[in-house]
Amino acid sequence: MLSPIQAKLLIVDDLPENLLALDALIKREDRTVYKALSADEALSLLLQHEFALAILDVQMPGMNGFELAELMRGTEKTKNIPIVFVSAAGRELNYAFKGYESGAVDFLHKPLDIHAVKSKVNVFVDLYRQSKAMKQQVEALEQSRREQQALLERLQATQNELEQAVRMRDDFMSIVAHEVRTPLNGLILETQLRKMHLARGNAAAFSLDKMHAMVDRDERQIKSLIRLIEDMLDVSRIRTGKLSIRPSRFDLAQLVRNLLQGFAAQIEAAECSVSLDAPEPVEGDWDEFRIEQVVSNLLTNALRYGGKSLIQVRVYCAGREARVEVQDNGIGISEENQRRIFAQFERVSDKTVVAGLGLGLFISEQIVAAHGGTIDVESRIHEGALFRVSLPL
Ligand SMILES: Nc1ncnc2c1ncn2[C@@H]1O[C@H](COP(=O)(O)OP(=O)(O)OP(=O)(O)O)[C@@H](O)[C@H]1O
Ligand SMILES: [Mg+2]
Repeated sequence: MLSPIQAKLLIVDDLPENLLALDALIKREDRTVYKALSADEALSLLLQHEFALAILDVQMPGMNGFELAELMRGTEKTKNIPIVFVSAAGRELNYAFKGYESGAVDFLHKPLDIHAVKSKVNVFVDLYRQSKAMKQQVEALEQSRREQQALLERLQATQNELEQAVRMRDDFMSIVAHEVRTPLNGLILETQLRKMHLARGNAAAFSLDKMHAMVDRDERQIKSLIRLIEDMLDVSRIRTGKLSIRPSRFDLAQLVRNLLQGFAAQIEAAECSVSLDAPEPVEGDWDEFRIEQVVSNLLTNALRYGGKSLIQVRVYCAGREARVEVQDNGIGISEENQRRIFAQFERVSDKTVVAGLGLGLFISEQIVAAHGGTIDVESRIHEGALFRVSLPL
């Protein structure tokens, strides 16, 4: 474990022959020995490399070994490097270097005792390797802790998504059931009523105008069932990338005008009024059926969430774009929810008040995107909403 760590050693002496002799004594395959002939040279090496040990000659012209050591202790990068002083003077000099008594410092005396030099260097190199290996282990541990943490967070996020998906599915099932039951209940009640009239031979219940109203009611219920099923089919078409667009040339202003006529009964039922501002024809190549679906979704929403207010519809050209705007003065949508409403099954208003699958805007945005266009919303809570569809001309 310790051996693969290469140790760098620094030896400093003003006499080249001393450096050579010391180098020969301490060099080994797993060590690199750097030689410096002066304190200045040593300093520049110290700044470039990470040393396991520095062996400094005490007596040098210019900056001596003690002064160099002083500088090393004052520098962050070098202050923890163990130092061995080599001195020709007597042993009383050992403590001349004040403040070093407690540091990783040792002394060698000239003439050098080969055995002492080797064993001292071995001790310091081993110490260096041990602390280096320890550091590496701590780093590895920290790294694996970070990886575990990241993994845990991913797991947590996946679990949240799963829980959310399960909740959405359950919500969706109960909304679908409710949405399907409403028109079916209407139809079954009508049927039972007619059966009763038939059983009593009550022909007056089937007069021409009463039949008219009946068929209209039936048609509305059946259409709303068909719409539900179509929406669900569209979602699966979008998921499998099979939502196809069949463009043809038509006037968007005219399409919206016709659509509003078809909406007359619903507008009346919602106690709303709708104004249309479409002064000029806006011709382009789009899928007429799909664009009608988009505008009809926006209108239905404005009727549902518009709070019996005035709904303003505008159709116009802006540069290279055709635009349809549907603006209401209803409950509005908070900024946070404006991002959510285009996702499937997202419904942000009070779920007990209004019914809907939360698919309209999701499908509309996909249709508009398939045309290379955009749909965006401007709204503030309680201050109405403006939905704008932009299609390339
Ligand atoms: N004009 C609007 N004003 C306020 N809130 C709106 C408006 N239009 C949409 N929303 C909010 O955005 C949600 C998503 O709308 P979306 O049309 O996708 O679904 P939905 O109307 O609930 O159901 P679906 O359209 O499938 O019948 C709605 O449930 C509602 O909370
Ligand atoms: Mg809708």
